[in-house]
Amino acid sequence: MSDVVVRAPAKINVHLGVGPLRADGFHALHTVYLAVSLHDTVTARPGEGLSLRMSGEGADGPGLVPADRTNLVWRAAELLARHAGVRADADLEVAKSIPVAAGLAGGSADAAATLVALDTLWGTRAGREDLLRLAADLGSDVPFGLVGGVALGTGRGEQVSPVLAAGRWHWVLGIAGEGLSTPAVYGELDRMRADGRVPDVTGPTPAEPVLAALRTGSTTELAAALANDLQPAALALRPDLRRALRAAEDAGARAALVSGSGPTVAALAADEDSAVRLAAELAGVGVFRTVRAVSGPVPGARPVS
Ligand code: C5P
Repeated sequence: MSDVVVRAPAKINVHLGVGPLRADGFHALHTVYLAVSLHDTVTARPGEGLSLRMSGEGADGPGLVPADRTNLVWRAAELLARHAGVRADADLEVAKSIPVAAGLAGGSADAAATLVALDTLWGTRAGREDLLRLAADLGSDVPFGLVGGVALGTGRGEQVSPVLAAGRWHWVLGIAGEGLSTPAVYGELDRMRADGRVPDVTGPTPAEPVLAALRTGSTTELAAALANDLQPAALALRPDLRRALRAAEDAGARAALVSGSGPTVAALAADEDSAVRLAAELAGVGVFRTVRAVSGPVPGARPVS
């Protein structure tokens, strides 16, 4: 069996409606995921036992992405092996372009790519439903990593269904120097709701406005409908993000929002040329570590031919 190479995309949430904290420690979500053209690549080779190497964006900081059994990639491999009743034998290599702890679901993309790569390497022939179930066990965003495109996420985000989108949108991602912890941002939102800094809710904000905007294909309508309930919490933990959002809007973005739990800022550009100009401008303002022009929707985890 020869090497299997699979790439999986980063996501942004064009709508993130967060309900109250559930008894299981998660929040009920109504979210709309959009997969964008920033990918990690997982290579799976035959091996004895499991081994894992990480390279690229953010992989070299001490302890940032541990290449051990706590890594979501390692857990994906063990989960698929157990499910299929095969030995977890593989040499895995993850080449990262998606920054870690950025609100772009990079770790989830890696896990989704690993499930697809090892399903092929091991010939386990897990069905789509099985892979989606295993993905949901690994993390709320992992099923979307398999599906890609544009999808509505419900439950804790793990129940995904495709959404009709009539366009392709150009974005600039402004990536901050230091990541944000997803549980910390959800925790801050709970505190803000409890002490009245933001209105309390009985359920997640519905995604209808953004779903309607996606169907029209209009950038203006999408810009007006973007929403992220986690944004006030991310801003409370990282006040400098306010300046980052303002910089994106001043530089000509149609709209800008925090991606997921942050701290990445996703700036929606009018078109591809505007995205290139916006990226150059944002790179110059000194608030971001890296700036990337991307577009989406793009497909989910799939083999590279
Ligand atoms: O599912 P995942 O492992 O990515 O979630 C990481 C953390 O983010 C959870 O432990 C929880 O604190 C928070 N979370 C949440 N509600 C969700 C998804 C994630 O509170 N729907």
